[in-house]
Amino acid sequence: GWYGFIGVPTDVGNKACGAAEGPAALRAIGLAPRMGMVDRGDVRGPAYDGTPDETGSRSVRETAAWCTGVRNAVAGVLADGGVPVMVGGDHAMALGSVAAAAEHARRQGRNLYVLWFDAHPDFNTPETSPSGNTHGYPAALACGIGHPCLLRVGAFTPLLRPDRLVQFGIRDIDAGERENLRRSGIEFHEMPAVRERGLAALVAHTISRIQAAGGGHVHVSFDIDALDPSVAPGVGTPVPGGLLLDECVDSLRLLGASGLVQSLDIVEYAATQDQGNRTAHVVEHLLAGFMAGRDGQTALVA
Ligand code: ARG
Ligand code: MN
Ligand code: MN
Ligand code: MN
Repeated sequence: GWYGFIGVPTDVGNKACGAAEGPAALRAIGLAPRMGMVDRGDVRGPAYDGTPDETGSRSVRETAAWCTGVRNAVAGVLADGGVPVMVGGDHAMALGSVAAAAEHARRQGRNLYVLWFDAHPDFNTPETSPSGNTHGYPAALACGIGHPCLLRVGAFTPLLRPDRLVQFGIRDIDAGERENLRRSGIEFHEMPAVRERGLAALVAHTISRIQAAGGGHVHVSFDIDALDPSVAPGVGTPVPGGLLLDECVDSLRLLGASGLVQSLDIVEYAATQDQGNRTAHVVEHLLAGFMAGRDGQTALVA
């Protein structure tokens, strides 16, 4: 199999997070060719607009336009038989990749599962969001709740059944967002549970559960801020007490080896906040782990 690198240089989901320069910075270290990925170029779209709409959300039309571009680019790689690696850009873009994954899974008669690695659940709706930033919406939108304009990005809604979304590394939840999670019955593993049970063990358990239910298309959406800021300082919304690199690489290797994962996001890399290229190399290690598992090779050695 082959991997298609899709750059999504935008911060329409939150101007302050600085994720627009991520893809260029990763190209500057030669990430795609070095890892044998096919560079499918960048998605393009409109600039950020900070004026809130009637729901208090910012850049909704811009987010929808970008996500439609992401959906088409991800669908293109899936149709050509590759594994799309959507590189953000902010996490709002995951709505586009989940839409493509959902449509692809449906055509193949498979169930879609999404595994979400993040400090944040990104399960806000315009009503619960403290910021109006669309990067706080995508997981809820995937499950069919949120801004009507954004629910139209995919061919159908909901894209994902809430009991097929599992989140790991969570440690910053807004009050109304917690209520949304509770109402939808989302399985989310907060950091104390991750520390107690181990990330790789939780991920392995999720893989077996999916396999026992007959498998499916697993989409992994990895927000770099899931990692502890001491490991990955190059993010716009850092939260202390996060995941360590080794446990993430191990988990991605397990996911790769499961053969279930057919699409991947790596988002929220804010090159402007990075210490040199530290976080860029973290991205490389995460991808190397996934690819080593999937292709049965040895992972990159630090
Ligand atoms: N919960 C906060 C909000 O809704 C922060 C979301 C951060 N999301 C992200 N993709 N970095 O604004
Ligand atoms: Mn962001
Ligand atoms: Mn996120
Ligand atoms: Mn996050």
